[in-house]
Amino acid sequence: MARIQFIGTDHPLYEQEVDLRNRVLLDPIGIDVAWLEERWPGMEARSEHFVAVIDHPKDGPRVVGCVLLLPDEPEKGVGKLAQMAVDPQRQREGIGRELCTELERRAFGELGLTRLFCHARKGADRFYQSVGWVPEGAEFEEAGIPHIKMVCEGG
Ligand SMILES: CC(C)(COP(=O)(O)OP(=O)(O)OC[C@H]1O[C@@H](n2cnc3c(N)ncnc32)[C@H](O)[C@@H]1OP(=O)(O)O)[C@@H](O)C(=O)NCCC(=O)NCCS
Repeated sequence: MARIQFIGTDHPLYEQEVDLRNRVLLDPIGIDVAWLEERWPGMEARSEHFVAVIDHPKDGPRVVGCVLLLPDEPEKGVGKLAQMAVDPQRQREGIGRELCTELERRAFGELGLTRLFCHARKGADRFYQSVGWVPEGAEFEEAGIPHIKMVCEGG
């Protein structure tokens, strides 16, 4: 099973996290993490990074999942979940659920946030629903693909 680790952008596993986000989320829509950083400078450093790691006896730690938390976004007390990705070979094993649980624990625990939201790609909304999040509002387009806002209340 994967273990969930909380890392910063200076951590040795950050490079693998970026590679995973590029492969799973961003390449298919023609952008990458460098492009995001150019568009929203400082966002990477301001985000909290959670990675799911599997330790390989020969190759060492491998990042198989990740998610970001932007605290106090867009206002104090609210947090945004972003960039949730699981390696295609390890999907449907409970890794996404584990990442979400850790992120919620941190957000509603130490950070004292009261509400989380994300812009879920259509299709992935069923994943968020299965971990207890609820849809809010109408479908909208972002980065050329249909999305739906999902929310999770703390407490
Ligand atoms: C969406 C994603 C993060 C889910 O991660 P995962 O590790 O595969 O999910 P889990 O195995 O933890 O699944 C948790 C629950 O969600 C459900 N689920 C997961 N993916 C689903 C999907 N695509 N459609 C419907 N249900 C889904 C599972 O059935 C499971 O429910 P259960 O435990 O009651 O059976 C992963 O599939 C992924 O990276 N997809 C591609 C990138 C993406 O779309 N990211 C989200 C951007 S908003």
